[in-house]
Amino acid sequence: MKQLVREEDILKKVEEIGKKINTDYKEKNPIVIGVLKGAFVFLADLLREIEIPIEVDFLSISSYNGKESSGVVRITHDLSLNIKDRDVILVEDIIDTGRTVNYIIENLKTRKPKSLAVCTLLNKEENRIINVQLSYIGFTIPGVFVVGYGLDYSNKYRNLRYIGVLNGS
Ligand code: IMP
Ligand code: MG
Repeated sequence: MKQLVREEDILKKVEEIGKKINTDYKEKNPIVIGVLKGAFVFLADLLREIEIPIEVDFLSISSYNGKESSGVVRITHDLSLNIKDRDVILVEDIIDTGRTVNYIIENLKTRKPKSLAVCTLLNKEENRIINVQLSYIGFTIPGVFVVGYGLDYSNKYRNLRYIGVLNGS
């Protein structure tokens, strides 16, 4: 498989983002929310670069069948923590059209967090349909279908250490 982002570049970037979060949230105690399943690898590495006190939670979303966005987003597993009046950092693997993260943001806002920031490892900016404000971006990539480091194609390839471009994409 063709590599788009090498393991060492991912890890360097993750360290950089972790340092920014340490600075931006100094003296704070944010809840870091990972969007399953795609963000779990990124989140696991990112957490260990964060030195301020944090709490971690997850939510599960279903939005994609294979390579095509269905446009329909659904929460299949909700948070266990209450985010009211809390600083929240939402961690995503990739923002493509923006539909999924926009749905999640609107949903979380109804729970009245004190603040809500979005952190994504990958940003396919050229495919954006819904504009969303992103506070932390790892890599802006072209509009190709990528897998690895948590990202899947039909639930495969999540275990790759790098970000690769699926053949034929
Ligand atoms: P969006 O709603 O179009 O922004 O799509 C976001 C979601 O689709 C992400 O959270 C991923 O789970 C999935 N996705 C989008 N692009 C890719 C890709 O290139 N590889 C794997 N999953 C992707
Ligand atoms: Mg995802």
